[in-house]
Amino acid sequence: MKNRQICLCNGVTEKEILQLVKKGAKNMDEVRKFTLATTGCGKCKFEVEALLKFHSDNKQSDLQYNIEF
Ligand code: FES
Repeated sequence: MKNRQICLCNGVTEKEILQLVKKGAKNMDEVRKFTLATTGCGKCKFEVEALLKFHSDNKQSDLQYNIEF
């Protein structure tokens, strides 16, 4: 699992977001509440949405996740 930074303003990594999805997070509000991602400049919003959508639709495929943004 990659651990690149998704939200630079709040130091949120891809790994943290994926861990939330595995625990059941399904939307931006839940990710925002637990990580503060998207609460600064907002530039990470589309990437967080893409991660949520991809991993919510493919919960069993996190080990095969190879998409680069
Ligand atoms: S990069 Fe996430 S709020 Fe600025």
